[in-house]
Amino acid sequence: MTAPRKIIIDTDPGQDDAAAIMLAFGSPAELELLGITTVAGNVPLTLTSRNARIICELCDRRDVRVFAGADKPVARKLVTAEHVHGKTGLDGPTLDEPVMPLQTQHAVDFIIDTLRSEAAGTVTLCTLGPLTNVALAFQKAPDIIPRVAELVMMGGGFFEGGNITPAAEFNIYVDPEAAEVIFGSGVPIVMMPLDVTHRLLASKDRLRRMAAIGTAPAKAMVEMLEFFERFDVEKYGSDGGPLHDPTVVAYLLKPELFQGRHCNVEIETKSELTVGMTVVDWWHVTSRKRNATVMRFVDADGFFDLLIERFARI
Ligand code: RIB
Ligand code: CA
Repeated sequence: MTAPRKIIIDTDPGQDDAAAIMLAFGSPAELELLGITTVAGNVPLTLTSRNARIICELCDRRDVRVFAGADKPVARKLVTAEHVHGKTGLDGPTLDEPVMPLQTQHAVDFIIDTLRSEAAGTVTLCTLGPLTNVALAFQKAPDIIPRVAELVMMGGGFFEGGNITPAAEFNIYVDPEAAEVIFGSGVPIVMMPLDVTHRLLASKDRLRRMAAIGTAPAKAMVEMLEFFERFDVEKYGSDGGPLHDPTVVAYLLKPELFQGRHCNVEIETKSELTVGMTVVDWWHVTSRKRNATVMRFVDADGFFDLLIERFARI
């Protein structure tokens, strides 16, 4: 039995972030969660920091340390997504305010200290929101970059285009300068773009299977996803909304669910029309350095089987 993989989850909860965190909670044999770091994104930092602790308490995991990070992007005004996630960011179920405290250390310093103190190549960064915290950590302490085992991120899109604009996916759009730092850093990146997540629809049948688990966390998750998906169902006319962030944790548990290739990815930061666009050289038409494993295909049934099986363990 190999030792659990050490991870830090950087997040802007968000209902789909909650699903990713719950998937990690349901997988203690494979994943050792060193801490959760919160960032401004779907909703402001005070709410993402509140929501991360609500998710921990919902799953009876008050042992998990939650660190608040950046309250705005590195070089722009914050853009949020209450129109998708609701005014709290976790609209759907009625949930108590958190009791567990936030850690006093800043998230960026927690990321730096953890990467310096854990053995090199043993910590995986899992980012579910804008890349602000990790970019700030890399800029403040470049020595940690070669110590990262892998950075697995939800963000970007290529053949699928964007969601917050025709060209840009939300996580990259909110902080394109941070994304530029990450993709230029040399850290080993696995990218879960909209091309993958739009194949993962939380259909009525899948939500029914999730509800049948019958536990409080599963019930709350179904209520979160039923709220979260209403925007995308209206927009795409699909049977259920796409589940974005759990792809990051699912990759750590069952990488064989995903298919992609090592490509060059550049970030548009200048053009007002396409700012935040991830320009993916999927066909290798340039000689630009291949800096990310970009996923494009996924076994959707296998993904939801894993999600539901692990949720049932919480
Ligand atoms: O575009 C989808 C991403 O933006 C997800 O991480 C969602 O939680 C929002 O942060
Ligand atoms: Ca997110």
